[in-house]
This record gives sequence, C-alpha cells and structure tokens, in this order.
Amino acid sequence: MAGQARHALITGATQGIGLEAARALLQQGWKVTLVGRDPKALERVQGDLAGTGEVATQLADLSLLRQTQALGRRMLEKGERLHALINNAGAYFHPRQMTGEGVESTWALNHLSPFGLTRTVEPLLRASSAEGQPARVVVVSSNAHSMAKKPPLDDLEFAEGYRAMQAYARSKLANIWFVREQARRWAENGPGGITINAVHPGVVGTRFFRGNGFFGWFWRTLLDRVAITPAEGARGLVRLASDPALTGVTGKYFSRETEKQPGGLGLDETLASQVFDASARRWAEITREG
Ligand SMILES: NC(=O)c1ccc[n+]([C@@H]2O[C@H](COP(=O)([O-])OP(=O)(O)OC[C@H]3O[C@@H](n4cnc5c(N)ncnc54)[C@H](OP(=O)(O)O)[C@@H]3O)[C@@H](O)[C@H]2O)c1
Repeated sequence: MAGQARHALITGATQGIGLEAARALLQQGWKVTLVGRDPKALERVQGDLAGTGEVATQLADLSLLRQTQALGRRMLEKGERLHALINNAGAYFHPRQMTGEGVESTWALNHLSPFGLTRTVEPLLRASSAEGQPARVVVVSSNAHSMAKKPPLDDLEFAEGYRAMQAYARSKLANIWFVREQARRWAENGPGGITINAVHPGVVGTRFFRGNGFFGWFWRTLLDRVAITPAEGARGLVRLASDPALTGVTGKYFSRETEKQPGGLGLDETLASQVFDASARRWAEITREG
C-alpha cells in the first residue's frame, strides 16, 4: 500500500542479532514489532530504539507453543499487514530440559515455535502479498545444521541419548527442512506469493552461550576469537527480509549474505517432508488445533 511503512515481526529482538536486525530495518523506514519474553527487556529495548522509527512490542515465551500461538493470534486480531516475519529467537540447552508443555526445549524454541508462528500468521503474510508486496519469512538457522545426524522420526526430541550440540544442530537442520518444504508446499500459489528462506548469521559475538556452564565457556572462548559483531550478523537477516534483488527467491539457505547449498542432510526431501508432518502433528497436539 503506497505510503505505508513495511512492517516486520522479529522474535528474539531483546538483544544480539535480532535487536540489530530491528535497528537496521528501522533505519530503512520499516515499522518493527519486537517479540520478547521479559517485559522489562522489551521496555528497555523500546526505549533504546526510541526516535529511530515506529516500534511496537509483544510479550511471549516462545519455548511455549501455546504462547507462540497466542502471539500469532494477537497479530491476526490486530489485522495489521506483515511484510516480514523474522524467526530469530533461539537457544542452546545443556543439560536436556523440558518445557512446561512437556516438549524438549531446543526442539520447542528453535524449531516448533518458528514453524507454528509462521503458519499462524500466514493470513497476514498472504494479505500483503495479495496487495503486491510479497511477504518474506526468514528463519535463522546455523551452519551447525551440517553436524546433525539423521534423526529417528519417533524420537525427534532426544528422549534417548541427548547431547546438547546434536540437539541444537538437529533443530537448525529442521529450520532448513521447514524452509525448503514450506516453500515447496507454497509453490502452488504461484509467483508473487510468500517467500521463505533460512540464514546462518555467521559466528556472532552475542551472549548466546551464556549460562551453559563449561560448554558455554568453552564455545565462547573459542568463538569469540573469530566472531563478528551482532550488527554484522544481522546483515544476512536484513538482506533476506528487504533486498529487492531477492524478490521471488524462496526455499533457499544463505550463509550470511550469500546463497549456499545446505550441508549434511539439508537436501534430503523425504526427511524434510516427514519432519514437516511430524511437526504439524506435535504443534496440533500441544496447541490442540484440529
Ligand atoms: N551467535 C552466533 O554465533 C549464532 C550462530 C548461528 C546461529 N545463531 C542463531 O541466531 C539466533 C539469535 O542468536 P543470538 O546469537 O543473537 O543469541 P542471543 O544474544 O542469546 O539472543 C537470543 C534472543 O532470543 C531470545 N529468546 C531466547 N529464549 C527465548 C524464549 N523462550 N522466548 C522468547 N525469546 C527468547 C532472547 O531473549 P532474552 O533476552 O530474554 O534472553 C534473545 O532476544 C539464534 O536462533 C541462534 O541459534 C547464532
């Protein structure tokens, strides 16, 4: 719609890569809605970004699928057009932990939440696309996806033999499978529809591994030597959300700002489809949707 700012919904926007992606989109004249789980952090970030553009906030703990669904439904009720959904929130859990809904936390936050949020707000994305501004979904994955071993379909949540790095890698592989399979399923809508892509932001100096004991310390020490800044890490997300050169590009994986073939099992179409269906069932089971 002419004269109206484009609008992005960004998860994990209270710090790190998500916050810097919000800042960059505001500089491009977008309106942003920041999602966070802590009201004080949201207030602080909204204050930090004051004067740079229109900033709204939404509260949700995205490891809880019912809260993710409620967030999506609130957005639907507001009815405001959405031109980009950036699924960025993510974490690494050591040792294994379950959410209050009985889902393994890595799988819930890193995979099932972006899966379900995207599908819940799809009508808003579709409405923008119908008005000639094709909406874009960005899923923040990781290069770590290539380390993931083939997951057993009857134990996607690692009830057996949990290893934090494998659980993280599996969730980031699932991000890529989701993107590829969702793009394939949306393809029937023809050109001009919603696009969806995954991005590895780079090795970024954020607080990502804090609070994870020895493993966090080990990775932080190792990675801090090569890490880029959060603003640099945000560039890939921002490009996927806004670069006109990427109009119509969908189902792809980018490393920072460059399209790459996914590694490991990333191109396995059968697993992508099977995990998509399993995720839809798990989401429905927890949110009690039909
Ligand atoms: N840093 C890297 O080198 C790197 C590399 C590859 C991929 N990634 C991916 O990049 C994304 C962003 O990571 P980052 O490095 O910016 O990490 P970060 O600084 O730890 O930021 C993560 C963001 O996610 C939010 N979040 C975590 N758990 C949440 C929950 N249950 N509900 C709602 N929000 C939640 C955090 O909120 P709080 O402020 O409340 O904690 C924070 O805003 C993640 O998906 C990560 O896997 C990072």
